[in-house]
Amino acid sequence: MNKVSFDPASPEFAARRAEARKALDALDPAKNQIPQTGPADPLRREWFEAVYALASDDPARVPWANLAPHPLLKAWVGAQARGISGLRTLDVGCGLGDNAECLAAAGARVVAFDFVAQAVDWAQRRFPNSNVDYRAGDLFALPDAWRGGFDLVHECYTLQALSKDLLPAALGALASLLAPGGKLLVISRARDEDSEVEGPPWPLPPSIFEEAKRQGLKPLAIEDITATADVGRRHWRALLGRADAA
Ligand SMILES: C[S@@+](CC[C@H](N)C(=O)[O-])C[C@H]1O[C@@H](n2cnc3c(N)ncnc32)[C@H](O)[C@@H]1O
Repeated sequence: MNKVSFDPASPEFAARRAEARKALDALDPAKNQIPQTGPADPLRREWFEAVYALASDDPARVPWANLAPHPLLKAWVGAQARGISGLRTLDVGCGLGDNAECLAAAGARVVAFDFVAQAVDWAQRRFPNSNVDYRAGDLFALPDAWRGGFDLVHECYTLQALSKDLLPAALGALASLLAPGGKLLVISRARDEDSEVEGPPWPLPPSIFEEAKRQGLKPLAIEDITATADVGRRHWRALLGRADAA
């Protein structure tokens, strides 16, 4: 019997991922104009729930799960001269938890949430001794207690999973989480403004930062990162602050 590999670099893991991707794409209303029979699901929550349920604890079947922090987050954390120790930090759409764990390993006090309860449960099982406070929660229905409560908010690949019409509200929600002087770190795939896009995911165009300004954020450092061996495609790594901060 062949051994099942949990090494994302192995061809066997990649083959399981490709097979799952095909099945998941076929289920995704955003890719197939599947008529909705039940209540409208603009957030694609049902599809995200299906991803984690169908994976049956096999991370190869979760398309974004690489069982390691995103290299652009890891490098950013390592480059912070003053460190992030003690910062009240929120990881948005945390998936299987690797990015939240990276922030916590650097000493941040991390809350991490995802609107799929099964993802949250899986992250907790992967990191049983974690200091991260994992929660189920929806970016569009945030607890009031979180508003203005974070020094650092991190999101990786959740904005690009949202249709264009949801982005203003999503950015507004992210802005509302920042404490005075707090910062939002966004990591996402990037594209030119006018390039064709066949999402999801929908790589973000430069105008996302204009929208961010309308939602009360100010760009502090916008990096347009070309594809490298580490990061297979063009990305934004963007740091934004509250527009009302000095
Ligand atoms: C593309 S995955 C990225 C996961 C993780 N950030 C990573 O980089 O591995 C997007 C994640 O965001 C979650 N998500 C999508 N919309 C959300 C929402 N409105 N509120 C909270 N989580 C959401 C999904 O369930 C999924 O786990």
